[in-house]
Amino acid sequence: MTIQNDKSLKQYNTFGIDVTARHFATFGSVNELTDLLNYELPSRSQRLVLGGGSNILFTKDVDGLVMKNELKGMELVREDKEHYYVRAAAGENWHQFVMFCVNSNYAGLENLSLIPGNVGASPMQNIGAYGVEIKDSFESLEAFHIEEKSIHHFNANDCEFGYRESIFKRKYRNQFVILNVTYRLNKKPVFNTSYGAIEQELEKMEVKELSIDAISQAVINIRSSKLPDPKQIGNAGSFFKNPTLPASMLGPLQQVHPAIPFYAVGDSHVKIPAGWLIEQCGWKGFREGDAGCHKQQALVLVNYGAATGHQVYQLSEKILQSVKEKFNILLEREVNII
Ligand code: FAD
Ligand code: EPU
Repeated sequence: MTIQNDKSLKQYNTFGIDVTARHFATFGSVNELTDLLNYELPSRSQRLVLGGGSNILFTKDVDGLVMKNELKGMELVREDKEHYYVRAAAGENWHQFVMFCVNSNYAGLENLSLIPGNVGASPMQNIGAYGVEIKDSFESLEAFHIEEKSIHHFNANDCEFGYRESIFKRKYRNQFVILNVTYRLNKKPVFNTSYGAIEQELEKMEVKELSIDAISQAVINIRSSKLPDPKQIGNAGSFFKNPTLPASMLGPLQQVHPAIPFYAVGDSHVKIPAGWLIEQCGWKGFREGDAGCHKQQALVLVNYGAATGHQVYQLSEKILQSVKEKFNILLEREVNII
């Protein structure tokens, strides 16, 4: 076990925020993880599990131990008539795992191509994009209980998945380290092109026969054209969730804002794109120092280089207040604030 002290986390978070960790170590096995959990820290010091750092905003130094997950391995664990069951260790890169599935002709995750981060964080907020969420293909996971020091097994029901939600973000926050996730992939693909932009992109690509490979490529093309690359501009994807409101709130909103876009969520709720609300409040392209709101996607807050996490957080607070004032809608942050 090698523990480094006062380590900069700049290269370990996609916002590129330059904070330090009092202690920092990687773990590549459950034994190494156990050693780190046994490492004594002053009381009230934080222990933070870190994956790819693509959904985190550091607003201060970490006065504790950052444990970077490097558990590796992907394998087909079983199959039945309709499915392949593939287990991936938490430290595997998510996109590489998706590519492994697409290349093996295991269907179900292709719409989730190119989402940054690691497999271990995928159930944390039930990652989703282009009409699909991981809960649709999730089979089970194994997680290490930090206090009990034992492995627990979770199926989909146990995880209480919701829109960008799971039990690990709420009730079990900071209690478990996810070790591996098993996905249930289809032998016969069920193509999901319901998200408008996919159809258009497939047409542009002149795809004659639909395949999971083509959908994956279409999603990669759309994402690359729409979202800023963290290697060029620091960001963590959507900073806020799209608010879900009771359908009864829509009428009064439409009276004042006839152009407000919305999507039905079941019969009783609607989802409003937060990017639209933020843009209407005039924030799109706004920049103060090195903290800003992206020029093409108002839902993405960015660090142009030397912004502090506090500055990005302050900007998010101002955005939240102005959306509240103009629309009486309270946005909720998606990004984990540390
Ligand atoms: P981290 O940022 O390292 O961690 C996130 C949280 O999970 C932290 O609280 C951390 O402590 C905890 N955690 C991480 N690993 C573990 C573990 N093994 N056990 C227990 N806790 C753990 N998300 C979407 O859902 N859809 C998108 O389309 C999408 N697009 C994005 C686009 C861009 C450009 C970026 C930068 C981000 C995007 N995201 C998107 C957000 C992000 O990619 C996902 O949330 C991703 O799952 C985060 O993975 P990570 O490994 O980087 O997690
Ligand atoms: N819009 C604007 N102005 C903007 C941005 C968006 O008006 O500046 C409106 C437009 O009406 C547009 C709509 O918002 O049609 C939706 O925008 P987009 O398709 O870009 O998707 P999003 O709702 O902003 C969500 C997810 C993304 C995911 C995409 C694709 C959330 C919080 N975000 O973004 O996930 O990749 O859909 O499915 O649900 C993430 O979670 O980090 C993330 C990037």
